[in-house]
Amino acid sequence: MLKPEIEKVLNKQIELEASSSQYYLAMATWCESKGLQGTSNFLYHHSDEERMHMLKLVKFISERGGRVIIPALVQPPTTFDSIEAVFNLVLEHEVNVTESINNIIDVCLSVKDYTTHNFMQWYVSEQLEEEALARTILDKLELIGADKGGLYLFDRDLQELSTQVIEQP
Ligand code: FEO
Repeated sequence: MLKPEIEKVLNKQIELEASSSQYYLAMATWCESKGLQGTSNFLYHHSDEERMHMLKLVKFISERGGRVIIPALVQPPTTFDSIEAVFNLVLEHEVNVTESINNIIDVCLSVKDYTTHNFMQWYVSEQLEEEALARTILDKLELIGADKGGLYLFDRDLQELSTQVIEQP
């Protein structure tokens, strides 16, 4: 059985992954409306990945006999200031997710739940990759600056990345 402290933080993580999925979906639609098809596809895929992260937690709680709470949807923003603003928000969001995962690890250790601790290691590695990816994208955007041709190539790069980033659990 899951200890109540663990059930609580895992359900909180479900909410965070679900809101990430919604947030990236909103970003994807905004990029699509700006003609950035590759970036939009990248974010659609990212949104799907977040849903997969959420589902993995849902199944884990259920398998351990815990109670899953499916959270209500919170409406994300409908518009963003710029493509840079989008990826700054992605990075900020991912840093929060990493903090939340580190907190779960702390709780696991404090109540000696080594099974959940082991399960969460997948998320620890995933966060390393996601933060690094967001930073790489921001570096690319900084290099491009106001160069429209650069933005075209950036969008094409992200189209390519969107076909590589989906990983199945
Ligand atoms: Fe599932 Fe991007 O954190």
